[in-house]
Amino acid sequence: MSAERAGREQRRLVEARDVRREYRLKGDLIEAVRGISLEVSAGDFLAIVGPSGSGKSTLLHLLGAVDSPTSGAIYLDGSDVTVMTDAERARFRLEHVGLVFQRFHLLPMLTALENVELPMAEAGLARKEREQRAKALLTRVGLGERLRHRPGEISGGQRQRVAVARALANRPALLLADEPTGELDQSTSAEMLELFQSLNEDGTAIVVATHDLQLAEGARRQMTLVDGKIRE
Ligand SMILES: Nc1ncnc2c1ncn2[C@@H]1O[C@H](COP(=O)(O)OP(=O)(O)OP(=O)(O)O)[C@@H](O)[C@H]1O
Ligand SMILES: [Mg+2]
Repeated sequence: MSAERAGREQRRLVEARDVRREYRLKGDLIEAVRGISLEVSAGDFLAIVGPSGSGKSTLLHLLGAVDSPTSGAIYLDGSDVTVMTDAERARFRLEHVGLVFQRFHLLPMLTALENVELPMAEAGLARKEREQRAKALLTRVGLGERLRHRPGEISGGQRQRVAVARALANRPALLLADEPTGELDQSTSAEMLELFQSLNEDGTAIVVATHDLQLAEGARRQMTLVDGKIRE
């Protein structure tokens, strides 16, 4: 292992300490995440599995600083994101985390290329560089021939791959993906796993929440959630 690689693997990208997330809904208290502590280092590839409703998406949103915990601390690359303002968190996310949501959240009026360019524009990257990088990313996910198509003009699996390319736009050290193969057939799912493995080989740490056993088994390690807790 090279020294650079060893250094990367030691870098702690995520540290969650006794994280809880409760929802209050019409007087009901829902404890979606009930005291989770975990770490993700550079070079890691973690699959979070568990039954529907066990808290996987909630946890992923917390780890991605999209949502804030009711209590507990979350350090991303050494910064406590739970003490940041919304604007600070948004900025931090843009630079540090790539997110692929359970629903893709692509903008329907923009082409694949424009969708991938968007986070780079938000980060202030020059137009030419944006376009070059977006093309390279879409080519990497196998969509070099679909750059000018809008989300409504490509298949579900292709949309999912655009979402992955977009998540990688600002070269995040950490990629979080919620059910990235949820709507894919087996062979397209296998391609998604290969894509993740190759991104991981290149140094991107990955956390996926999934019901897809093939994907989970392709990760470096697995964690099972049951009722908002890690099953030991
Ligand atoms: N915005 C919300 N308001 C209230 N309760 C919520 C909210 N989001 C999720 N929950 C509840 O929190 C629990 C965890 O939900 P979550 O979406 O994290 O599960 P999940 O493991 O991702 O499930 P799935 O495998 O079906 O995607 C569930 O009981 C769910 O009903
Ligand atoms: Mg979910």
